[in-house]
Amino acid sequence: MRVKTTLLIFGAMFLLTPNVYAETSAEALFEAKCASCHVKMRPSDISTLVAPPIMGVARHVKMTYRTKEEAVKFITEYALDPKESKAVCMPEKLKRFGLMPSQKGNVTKEELTTIAGWIYDNFANQGRGKGHGKACKDK
Ligand code: HEC
Repeated sequence: MRVKTTLLIFGAMFLLTPNVYAETSAEALFEAKCASCHVKMRPSDISTLVAPPIMGVARHVKMTYRTKEEAVKFITEYALDPKESKAVCMPEKLKRFGLMPSQKGNVTKEELTTIAGWIYDNFANQGRGKGHGKACKDK
């Protein structure tokens, strides 16, 4: 009986751990694969940016793609195969930063699905559609 209970507790711990792990590892993946170019929040000095903050990217993605599924698909595909015709951000931003280099070889599709889901869940959750384009624009 005791052994069974202990096993059950360990079993439950094992089942619960991956969720916590998924959250931190998604952020760690973002840090490792994307943060060299994308900061999270818009800093006060934007002159040093080499890519739009992910917060602004998330806002634009959410303005265009209404469901998490579509948004995740877009981010995943864009990171592997960026094209100007696909971009949801402002044209000024493409002019300023240039097209994002493909991350193919740097990140897998599975990792991207994790990263994209994390971006969707953690950014631009309030005031959707407000402040149109600011974070992606030049100023
Ligand atoms: C080498 C620098 C660099 C890295 C690394 C990088 N990006 Fe980007 N990214 C950019 C630049 C520059 C832009 C703005 C131009 C554009 O939209 O293509 C951009 C734009 C984007 C956009 C907006 C596309 C749009 O609609 O215009 C998404 C989504 C995105 N990046 C996702 C990612 C993800 C996810 C990662 C990590 C796997 C990543 N990026 C890594 C440079 C980078």
